Amino acid sequence: MSSHINLQLGWPSPRLYPAEQLAAAAAILSDPDVAKVALMYGPDLGYAPFRESVAKWLTSFYEPPSGSIPIERILITGGASQNLASILQVFSDPHITRRIWMVEPTYFLACTIFQDAGFADRLRGVPENEQGLDIEFLRKELAKFEYEASQNGVFHEIKPSSQYGKIFRHILYLTPTFSNPSAKTMSTPVREQLIALAREYDILLISDDVYDFLRWPAEDRKAHSIKLAPNPPRLVDLDRATSSDDSWGNSISNGSFSKIVAPGVRVGWAEASPKIILRLSQNGATTSGGAPSHLTSTFLDHLLSTGAMQKHIDEVLIPTYQSRYRVLMAALKTQLEPLGVRITTGAPYTIPADENTIVPVGGFFTYISFPPRLPSAGVIAKRAKEEYQLTFAYGEMFVVKGDETSVERSKQGFGNGARLCWAWHEQDEIEEGISRLAKLLKILLAEGSA
Ligand SMILES: Cc1ncc(COP(=O)(O)O)c(C=O)c1O
Repeated sequence: MSSHINLQLGWPSPRLYPAEQLAAAAAILSDPDVAKVALMYGPDLGYAPFRESVAKWLTSFYEPPSGSIPIERILITGGASQNLASILQVFSDPHITRRIWMVEPTYFLACTIFQDAGFADRLRGVPENEQGLDIEFLRKELAKFEYEASQNGVFHEIKPSSQYGKIFRHILYLTPTFSNPSAKTMSTPVREQLIALAREYDILLISDDVYDFLRWPAEDRKAHSIKLAPNPPRLVDLDRATSSDDSWGNSISNGSFSKIVAPGVRVGWAEASPKIILRLSQNGATTSGGAPSHLTSTFLDHLLSTGAMQKHIDEVLIPTYQSRYRVLMAALKTQLEPLGVRITTGAPYTIPADENTIVPVGGFFTYISFPPRLPSAGVIAKRAKEEYQLTFAYGEMFVVKGDETSVERSKQGFGNGARLCWAWHEQDEIEEGISRLAKLLKILLAEGSA
């Protein structure tokens, strides 16, 4: 057992990397015809066979209501972070894009990507609620902001529309399924309302759909006939179903193989309207050299098209994460809930249609709230690290940077909690981590009542 336990790390444990499968995929380079293609600059949209494989795989996983996903909707990227930066380069202009809305608590590393794109003073939080997003809060803030903007006169674009085609007035960033950090999943009605709002206010919804594939039953039920309730529709699916083929649309699904293959591959995909995909592929860094991560894309194509990737997800990742999840939940229930800690991951997003359908949980994280009598989550985290060699991500880390109102809201809600991750440590280490936290909380509770 490792002495330091880190429940903050959102990385898969190294033993879960499909190294052998990747080594087998790399052997394709021994064919000179394949090597010639794999080692040359790739096409701007990405390696075409891989785009086909991704489109097919996403179609079978999501079963989109508009039918199979055509290759024109798929772009190969260097992962979700790289692609977020590319999206901003192409579809935002700090003079025209007036606000970046981030669902809070937010994936904190995304804030820097927005700051780098010139939006340091424009980030604004939109609180989650049990259904995944406080849509009325967003509606009011948009209306208020648009009124104020209309009083301030016209701003001149930095990026000429003749070259850029489409600059969005607002951007909203979110992880609607198994969110990082809150583990919440947005309900279907809220997703539908969000699409309508995006149309009304010219918002580009950037949806990090990076955890969707890791899902298992919330409860341990043994019956054979039980099946998982379906995924809620992605924002891109709702957008596609209600817009014309030649429109820009208002959403991008930002996917990544970091969580389901290995972070080092730095490969992901974007799905959006063909118009958005084509424009995104024409950002300067891509036209100078082709799609990012071309060589690794060819390896991942081998994994995907041979079925090795899905086998790895089904036979290694899901069983491992599911067992760790159950151990974590049992430890939280027996050791922390009696101390007043609550699991706060929102309403389950699907009501089982019948007794044979079961609600899924998934992703990498759960979120807990500490009882009010304790010091701040930051203080608890500091003492956990110093006195118990236990690290976890604490609530204040997930405020939207530069938004004072987000800091204030955090004090009434998510700031008073912690994100716990099961991707890095084994079951016994997770249990040990929760025991250490329980010991610390007992001391803090005693100190508080002394
Ligand atoms: C919501 C979210 N988006 C993006 C990333 C990073 O993805 P990538 O490795 O593809 O850049 C992470 C990783 O923690 C994440 O949780």
